[in-house]
Amino acid sequence: MCGIVAYIGPKDATPFLLEGLARLEYRGYDSAGVAVTGRSGGIKLRKVKGRVADLAAAVPARFKGTTGIGHTRWATHGVPSDANAHPHLDNAERIAVVHNGIIENADELRAKLAADGAVFRSETDTEVLAHLIAANVAEGVELEDAVRAALGRVVGTYGIAVLDAERPDRIVVARNGSPIVLGIGEKEMFAASDVSALVRYTRQVVHLEDGELATVRADGFRTFTEDARTTHRQPSTVDWEVDSYDTGGFEHFLLKEIHEQPGSVERTLSGRLDERFATAHLGGLNLDARELREIRRVKILGCGSAYYAGEMGAQLIEELARIPAHSEPASEFRYRNPVIEADTLYVAVSQSGETYDTLAAVQEVKRKGGRVLGVVNTVGSAIARECDGGIYLHAGPEVSVASTKAFTSTVVAFALLALHFGRIHDLSPADGRRIVSALKALPDQIREVLEQSEAIAGLAAEYADSAGMMFIGRVRGYPVAREGAQKLKEISYVHAEAYPASELKHGPLALISPELPTVALVPDDELLDKNLTTLGEIKARSGRVIAVGHRRPEEKLADHCILVPKSEPELDPLLLNIPLQLLAYHAAVALGRDVDKPRNLAKSVTVE
Ligand code: AGP
Repeated sequence: MCGIVAYIGPKDATPFLLEGLARLEYRGYDSAGVAVTGRSGGIKLRKVKGRVADLAAAVPARFKGTTGIGHTRWATHGVPSDANAHPHLDNAERIAVVHNGIIENADELRAKLAADGAVFRSETDTEVLAHLIAANVAEGVELEDAVRAALGRVVGTYGIAVLDAERPDRIVVARNGSPIVLGIGEKEMFAASDVSALVRYTRQVVHLEDGELATVRADGFRTFTEDARTTHRQPSTVDWEVDSYDTGGFEHFLLKEIHEQPGSVERTLSGRLDERFATAHLGGLNLDARELREIRRVKILGCGSAYYAGEMGAQLIEELARIPAHSEPASEFRYRNPVIEADTLYVAVSQSGETYDTLAAVQEVKRKGGRVLGVVNTVGSAIARECDGGIYLHAGPEVSVASTKAFTSTVVAFALLALHFGRIHDLSPADGRRIVSALKALPDQIREVLEQSEAIAGLAAEYADSAGMMFIGRVRGYPVAREGAQKLKEISYVHAEAYPASELKHGPLALISPELPTVALVPDDELLDKNLTTLGEIKARSGRVIAVGHRRPEEKLADHCILVPKSEPELDPLLLNIPLQLLAYHAAVALGRDVDKPRNLAKSVTVE
């Protein structure tokens, strides 16, 4: 949710900290801060409510130090304010801490520390850590031991970086549920909550495991467990391109990522289609054909757009493999004591691989002996590591808070899984070939849709100031409607409702009026006539309709029409979704919204 950066080396830490925070800002952006120290001793601290740019403006030229930590926040405990921004200091201003996650027993610890004389200056749970660590750093106690002792009293999740003004030769970092990655430089070291902050400086990284800590010095690092046993970690090389973290000439990351979809879909498909047997090869499943034949049910778990992509995935699996499949919000599943069945395959979906609710759902399934696959974008992320196998999306980094290219690649990954499953069961070679060719055609078809961006911008401008918007679709079109509504509300703040088209007459038809336009998914499939009837019902109530489909409905049934290329019916939802991304984007721009960093949201939701 929040972003952490840290630097230690011969240079001034501040420029790296500020640039790193700007790159992590998509993780949280209500306040930001930096703290540095050096040989001259003492901690310099600046933190402000607002964006990283506000922080940069508040940092004076003399703010220098060779060891530093920084943070960009998404508020959980306490409102966004200067005082609640990280880093947090102890009363002697010797220890500075930045923290992602939630300390669940913060109130209890706060009361004890206050009774011992600690004076709290913020409402955050994190400040507890600064006082706790300070209480443990005594003469002859190493900083890492003081941090370990403090964390031993903490219940909750954390990724932290700790600075000690009296030991400027090191930073101590720790991970439990919130990622921390070390970056190895030339006589300098970096740490961050996400590689995006590091790739300009180094490609050699070490991902800490949960329950692991590290002492980071300019010339290297040492990792160890909470009970002080040394661990041995080999660096890996980051293969994402540096320019993935730039807008590359587009006005926003979101628009860039929408336009990257032909390439990201190609990468998701790359090397996985088998034309000879009309199937898909998915090397990471760790399940052979015999084991897959024993699967009787598929349960897909994800949050937000990942859950909607899972709904599309469930339909693909049912249609191609004829195995009952269902998608459920991981955030609900984990709390309802779910029945875990031996012949059910659980599939966790997450772009970031960090979403706490999804991770907790995976852990619940595994604790009860279930088998979980991951459909994940971020290689080596917590969810990917927790799963028994899976499919990496290879969509490339997604920076904008709203998911677009990862969403599309997730659905493509499910199409591959469904094809693979189907061909193990009863999907005919002819049907397999039909799906293989349709998948190969997708990148060019997406390009065709993207060419309509300008026309869609015109429509978005016309409808952006509506009181709300209705999104409807039948069966395959319903998850498209849900994702379309999610995208619009998330980035434009226009209220949007998604309904199955078949349900309209059971209640929501009462809402239809000229003030509530409807985006209707009307693919040219076996349900076209039913969908056209629904359009007639909306028009009869003076509703305005934007139809998205494969052929223009009669003029009396739709006010506007967006046409997309026809795929196979099972894959049509993928293409129908792309104009809805553009519609949401252009509506948000027309309304002057902060497209890449919508209010109240963050890219990775690493808290409950
Ligand atoms: C997508 O536009 C949203 N920002 C959000 O719903 C997101 O899909 C959800 O939080 C899950 O994230 P994940 O894929 O990283 O797990």
